[in-house]
Amino acid sequence: MSAIEFQNVSKTFGGRKAVDAVNFKIESGEIFGLIGPNGAGKTTTMRMLVTLLQPDQGQILVGGHSVRQAPSEVRRQIGFMPDAFGVYDDMTVNEYLEFFAACYHVPKPQRPGLIKDLLELVDLPQRRNDMVDTLSTGLKQRLGLARVLIHDPSILVLDEPASGLDPRARIEIRELLLEVARLGKTILFSSHILADVAELCTRIGIMENGRVAAVGTLSQLSQKLTPHRLLKIALLDKAEETQAFLAMQANVSAVRLRSERDAHQHLCLELDFNGADADIQALLARLIENKFPIVHFSEENQKLEEVFMRTTKGIAA
Ligand SMILES: Nc1ncnc2c1ncn2[C@@H]1O[C@H](COP(=O)(O)OP(=O)(O)OP(=O)(O)O)[C@@H](O)[C@H]1O
Ligand SMILES: [Mg+2]
Repeated sequence: MSAIEFQNVSKTFGGRKAVDAVNFKIESGEIFGLIGPNGAGKTTTMRMLVTLLQPDQGQILVGGHSVRQAPSEVRRQIGFMPDAFGVYDDMTVNEYLEFFAACYHVPKPQRPGLIKDLLELVDLPQRRNDMVDTLSTGLKQRLGLARVLIHDPSILVLDEPASGLDPRARIEIRELLLEVARLGKTILFSSHILADVAELCTRIGIMENGRVAAVGTLSQLSQKLTPHRLLKIALLDKAEETQAFLAMQANVSAVRLRSERDAHQHLCLELDFNGADADIQALLARLIENKFPIVHFSEENQKLEEVFMRTTKGIAA
């Protein structure tokens, strides 16, 4: 059974379809990233999943339970972090977590231990007596994560958990999400930061105009949506000879010598490649056999941006 299943789900606001016949599944233990332009329908999709909005059509299942028919069971299984942190005047970090523990009926004697564990997980124990409003955006997001874990949900739904964060806070949230995933939780999050999505996610869904235009692993999406794989080779010298050699190899449709050296002052070749992993391995073996002075050989992995641009321009079906 899937952790989350959307079956033909639609939502209309004032005659305009915000979510339009969405179908996708998220398996238990996945980190699933939802990306898409502003207004694509990501927040609406999440709010329906977490029982805050009713779909007009279709159904959503969480651990096999219908969101419409068993909303309280769904709420028990899900922790939801909205895209904006609410206003909590005059409340310390500890009181904030106490408040949510009470909302979720965590028995009183268990609360101090639970809150201590959660504060440690998000690395905030030293701020437990500080007012929530004095925390930076990054610390507030970490507190928000502690808050959604308070009833030990199996699924986390996070709407743009990294928005507005500086690079360090962003990386810390990324690490934290991995740690939470290692605890066995399923995570669905939306983001505009494609690097985070590419780094973290087991699978990615791309939304546009209320529809899920593509779903898959990054490599599945790349293979489907980009015309070829892109390989990068850095060399100590013999760039022209290597280029000529590569141009004659199977699966290589183009070889370009970059005009600039890379950060390590190496010469760089870029290859358009149409082959499987085994073909890449065979190509590297031939290069080494022929003693070309290679110091770096990799597939360009920042392709999510290209996939995103192609999908959201409507090139993909
Ligand atoms: N409560 C509402 N009333 C009317 N229209 C709404 C409401 N909520 C969302 N919409 C509209 O539905 C569409 C989808 O919005 P949604 O917030 O789901 O997009 P999003 O993908 O989360 O965008 P963003 O990346 O900007 O957060 C938009 O056109 C939005 O204006
Ligand atoms: Mg949104």
